[in-house]
Amino acid sequence: MGSSERKTRKILVTSALPYANGPLHLGHIAGAYLPADIYVRYQRLKGRDVIYICGSDEHGVPITVSADQEGISPQEVVDRYHRMNKEAFESLGISFDHYSRTSLPVHHETAQSFFTALFQKGDLKVKESEQFYSPRSRRFLPDRYVEGICPHCRYDKARGDQCDHCGKWLEPADLINPRSKMDGEIPELRKTVHWYLPMGQFADSWKKWFESRQWKDNVRNYCRGWYEEGLGDRPITRDLHWGVPVPLDDEKARGKVLYVWFDAPIGYISATREWADKVGDSDRWKSYWKDPETFLVHFIGKDNIVFHAILFPMILMEVGGYILPEAIPANEYLTIEGRKISTSQNYAIWLKDYLEKFPADPLRYTLAANAPETKDTDFSWSQFQSRNNDELADILGNFVNRSLTFTHRFFKGRVPEPGKLDEVDQAMLKAIQETRDDLGACFEQFEVRRGTKTLMDLCRKANKYFNDKAPWETRKTRPETCAATLYVCLQVSRALSVLMSPVLPGAAEKLLRVLGGEKPLSWDEAGTELLRPGSRLRKPEILFQKIDDEVIQREIESLAAIAGQDRENKKNR
Ligand code: 2FM
Ligand code: ZN
Repeated sequence: MGSSERKTRKILVTSALPYANGPLHLGHIAGAYLPADIYVRYQRLKGRDVIYICGSDEHGVPITVSADQEGISPQEVVDRYHRMNKEAFESLGISFDHYSRTSLPVHHETAQSFFTALFQKGDLKVKESEQFYSPRSRRFLPDRYVEGICPHCRYDKARGDQCDHCGKWLEPADLINPRSKMDGEIPELRKTVHWYLPMGQFADSWKKWFESRQWKDNVRNYCRGWYEEGLGDRPITRDLHWGVPVPLDDEKARGKVLYVWFDAPIGYISATREWADKVGDSDRWKSYWKDPETFLVHFIGKDNIVFHAILFPMILMEVGGYILPEAIPANEYLTIEGRKISTSQNYAIWLKDYLEKFPADPLRYTLAANAPETKDTDFSWSQFQSRNNDELADILGNFVNRSLTFTHRFFKGRVPEPGKLDEVDQAMLKAIQETRDDLGACFEQFEVRRGTKTLMDLCRKANKYFNDKAPWETRKTRPETCAATLYVCLQVSRALSVLMSPVLPGAAEKLLRVLGGEKPLSWDEAGTELLRPGSRLRKPEILFQKIDDEVIQREIESLAAIAGQDRENKKNR
């Protein structure tokens, strides 16, 4: 879809609801949050009607397991991580319009109404099956807590619900040599009753819809694979006491909750309802979710593709009256110093820890410049350091700083009258407009990585312009030329305060303050004369502090120690 078309449409953006079962790490941020935030900030600058919705995913087995291990209630677990993650997102500048949580009554009601709608249509099948049961703890073992050999690819750590190696969806009974992940106990199979969504029955209409849209390669390939294998009956209830209770007045439903992957995506709708209440117009959520004019985008990591591209759209289609996603920019994974992130082994960079030591913008920039859009990418501390020192500080920061310092020294801190602009000056001003349009096209197409490079290329060009024009010389010999040069440099700086703000909102705000601007006006105005001759500038502030080698070395060593410990543990096993 062309950008001119999107102008008339509302945009509803969601990021995967993170589990409130642990802190956020950089892998989460690179996958589902930063790219979405950049997209949303850009759309706001374009003046579009966009809302950005997210919240904590507060159900699911890992939460009950953590609660049991700590001897506290699941509610206490989710309260702790909901608060922690919400604060960390805020500090990183992730600008949700609303950050909700799925343990709220509004969500329980919404999720139950979807189940009831399917039930009343006669869509759901009730089936008895055999599930793993732990005689020791006298309860059914959730799928993902049983591990065994994958029947498809023989991976020996496949989980009862999915094989992380080949990506196939599994039933616990499919596993070869199952064992409990928690204590190695060999579980027994017991009979239990569940409600199933017969996905095969909806597969044809889903396929027709799916093939009518443009998808990212990873989304298209995974989905075609799943479809070709056959989409069977999938249970959408579980034997658990924590979650959304199955809304049936039936003895068989007692002690059962909705499957977390049934309720979580519906969380996007409940969170939008909560947002509508917050803005004082409780029906407003419908003007997004129920209006075909809305462009719905789900930002996720690749492990969530099947749920967002197949399960959720199928549910929405079958219940009817809701829009379906038009784009799912699913990202690949981020590794850290060449190794896979492992939360259980504490091999990760936790967002909260990062933010206690460094500002948000250099991380946003590094992750954006190296976004795992088409393949897994690696975060290394040395790359982070050079992105910060050699690009943000030495190119962007330096250009802005030298332009402002020069103006203060030789033009009394006021934007000079440009007089006549020569070809080189005009080419520089034109480059702002070209960058604005190229960068806009990148963001529109979810290409944050290319966009970030485009932005830095403008700064490179601007530094070269400053050097070539040598205002420190023309100041003495041709003062009008010098004035024109500084006029151009200041217009570039002012445009940068708009163009950099989706990726670098903190520095953009600082810069705007120094240039005497109020709010970033609009994307389309970047590249016009945003600073009038004669307007007064404040004293420059350093936009990006350099980061020393020792600081980076400490971070590298602390990760290496965790990796070393892990190798040691494996050896002694
Ligand atoms: O993978 C996860 O972290 C899930 N909590 C994502 C849920 S996305 C949506 F469906 F809510
Ligand atoms: Zn497998």
